[in-house]
Amino acid sequence: MASKILSLLLLLFVFIACNQKNKSDADLVELAKKDSLANCSINPNGQSELAELMRQMQGHINSIRDAAIAGTISGEVPGFLNNIHTAKPTDSTMVDGEFDSRADEYLAAVKDLYHRYPESQKIAFNTVVSKCQSCHEHYCPGPLVVIKKMYIPL
Ligand code: HEC
Repeated sequence: MASKILSLLLLLFVFIACNQKNKSDADLVELAKKDSLANCSINPNGQSELAELMRQMQGHINSIRDAAIAGTISGEVPGFLNNIHTAKPTDSTMVDGEFDSRADEYLAAVKDLYHRYPESQKIAFNTVVSKCQSCHEHYCPGPLVVIKKMYIPL
């Protein structure tokens, strides 16, 4: 009985080992790339323009959070945000046909925030964060943990 179980386990082991061998190196590289894209983690081949821009967008939103709470945001939307349409992503296949319209929704939300009356800036700020969130739910959930912490409690 025990030897039967043992040989079954052995079979299972051989089966699993073979299955893993079936993945070629190229497959594994593809998989690792997909994984890192799925999480938007640091690209080992250097940073893409879009990843760099995302970190600047993150810095921007964090830098105006207190002002949104105080209702003192005014002036012009920083021009660099428009680069979202041209910045090159880590992998061009990740940017699908929806990317530009999602990017426009985000830009429109930022613009709206800059033109709000003080008392509604908190809500407008949270709308911007919701655009970060929805885009990341679609493309890469990695940064969602940080993004969800950006909301201003109302
Ligand atoms: C239009 C879709 C879209 C919107 C809106 C968006 N992101 Fe991203 N974000 C992406 C994509 C796609 C990547 C992957 C970029 C790459 O790897 O080239 C990314 C990457 C990131 C990264 C990882 C950067 C790195 O170091 O690899 C962070 C952090 C991030 N976004 C935060 C934000 C924040 C904060 C906002 C809102 C202010 C935001 N994103 C809005 C699509 C979006």
